[in-house]
Amino acid sequence: MQPLVSPSLLSANFGNLDADIEMINNSEADWLHIDVMDGVFVPNISFGFPVLEAVKRKTRKPLDVHLMIVNPENYITRFREAGASVLTLHYEAVDHLDSAVRKIQSLGMKAGVSLNPHTPVSLLEEILPLLDMVLLMTVNPGFGGQIFIESSYNKILKLRELIKETSSSALIQVDGGVDTKNATHLVQAGVDVLVAGNTIFGSDNPSEIINSLKNCCKRIT
Ligand code: DX5
Ligand code: ZN
Repeated sequence: MQPLVSPSLLSANFGNLDADIEMINNSEADWLHIDVMDGVFVPNISFGFPVLEAVKRKTRKPLDVHLMIVNPENYITRFREAGASVLTLHYEAVDHLDSAVRKIQSLGMKAGVSLNPHTPVSLLEEILPLLDMVLLMTVNPGFGGQIFIESSYNKILKLRELIKETSSSALIQVDGGVDTKNATHLVQAGVDVLVAGNTIFGSDNPSEIINSLKNCCKRIT
């Protein structure tokens, strides 16, 4: 199985966003990853609804929105209206995860839950059957271009096992420090969706990098 590839817009050229969105439209990318940061949940601020709505008007790829904000449950309807197809909340930011996930799904979006690097996958055991996706942060959230945390492989294997045990159909997404060197190992460990920012937009040939990630390998497990 080929992984889904979701280029992270955070590393795009915001002075000429049209060009980067058009590159993604014409590439093998499956989704477009949108990082929303509030400067509270993470020590950085990115962008919000006006940018998201502008991107939605130009892109032909489903928007995969990753909320790194406090109280994300208050904005679920707004993100649907702004064009999100996949909406991911952080486990650490929500008190009533079950109801937030159900609300996302009731509005016709796929629901993802993200875990920071220090948060164990075992905390998802009860909710896994309900989820469409788990996003494992493989760097500390907040910035593009960081180094992949190697202990994430173990976490992917544990999550893959837990998904099997709970008969969940959740996809595993990884985000942070993904590149063409570690993509094969990640997919072989059980990853379904690769998010990549810096390695794509920092390249002279971004669509070629998307292509290499997409065709990195087949899942063995
Ligand atoms: C980080 C964001 C990521 C980021 C990944 O908090 O969630 O989506 O854009 O960037 P790279 O691939 O450069 O590590
Ligand atoms: Zn992200």
